[in-house]
Amino acid sequence: MASFSVKTAKLHPLVLLVAIAGLCFAAKGQLTPSFYDHICPQALPTIKAIVQSAVYNEPRMGASLLRMHFHDCFVHGCDASVLLDQTPAINSEKFARPNNNSLRSFEVIDRVGSQLDRVCGCPVVSCADILAVTARDSVVALGGPWWNVPLGRRDSADAYQALANLAIPSPFMELPALIDSFKDQGLDIIDLVALSGAHTIGSAQCRVFRPRIYSDTNIDTSFANSLQQNCARSVGQTDSNLAPLDPTSARFDTMYYKNLVNQKGLLHSDQALFGGGSTEELVKTYNSDYQAFWRQFAKSMVKMGNIKPLTGYDGQIRTNCRRVN
Ligand code: HEM
Ligand SMILES: *[C@@H]1O[C@H](CO)[C@@H](O)[C@H](O)[C@H]1NC(C)=O
Repeated sequence: MASFSVKTAKLHPLVLLVAIAGLCFAAKGQLTPSFYDHICPQALPTIKAIVQSAVYNEPRMGASLLRMHFHDCFVHGCDASVLLDQTPAINSEKFARPNNNSLRSFEVIDRVGSQLDRVCGCPVVSCADILAVTARDSVVALGGPWWNVPLGRRDSADAYQALANLAIPSPFMELPALIDSFKDQGLDIIDLVALSGAHTIGSAQCRVFRPRIYSDTNIDTSFANSLQQNCARSVGQTDSNLAPLDPTSARFDTMYYKNLVNQKGLLHSDQALFGGGSTEELVKTYNSDYQAFWRQFAKSMVKMGNIKPLTGYDGQIRTNCRRVN
């Protein structure tokens, strides 16, 4: 005890000031799962609790949070650019074609942000890291695998609406275009097939599967007929009617792959993974071996989460995820 106080007394006040400031401003170059262990040990348990309650209230919210991280990472890297609201200076990604009237769960991110401010004492957790952790916790809450999330991303000071229109794959794509889209992000066909397994949870709107259920030939007839009941042939009132992406859309299981084998993929892009191309064997593997799917999904999520993060002194830690500081 005595030696401790002597040592403390010798510390220059400036050193103490820097040490205390360090509690609120941490900057390191590489992502690591332990990033918040000292600067805010309550960060991860806090996020987990909020995600659990959001998913308990509405299972689909878990799917929406998982998709949000994907749409963040594919556009200028995992930098929370997707969360910025429209302003005269910001062309929000929320209005990009794949996101407009589709992306959801922004309110859950707001809730996490303000609760973290409270438990950490200052804004230390980046919005980009919040997206990565809420995605993982959502998968776990819906019965899927857990993985260690590398952390330490920082947030962008800009949004990239035009890039969002280009970089996020479309549900009308064929396999070669899907492969290219993932390749542009440094992801291979194993990542493509495993990450597409995210469609084991959540829902899609009529407007994105209409051509599939009325025009595709590689679709189970009774499956197509039943979807047509809730999704009219012509553009109009039923455009935003929902269908589950797989029949067990609140459980993170392998039903997505079983559907593909049975020509019951909901999106044209889903079924494209099982049409005789290079991805067909992987679909069969994940259909018959959930552990192989879980292992690869976790691995590919880490890989996706590592797409061009801002680190060190790049970017910023936004105090409000919807606005630049
Ligand atoms: C492979 C290319 C992909 C395409 C073409 C695609 C396309 C889509 C489309 C069109 C929807 C429905 C949106 C709506 O109707 O509002 C959707 C939903 C969803 N996507 Fe994807 N997606 C792809 C990959 C991924 C990946 C890699 C993930 C995550 C790792 C993901 C996670 C989800 C989830 C969880 C939903 C349901 C969201 C909800 O219910 O709110 N998708 N996707
Ligand atoms: C987004 O959707 C709204 C309808 O809710 C529409 O008025 C608007 O034009 C869309 N924005 C873009 C950029 O397409």
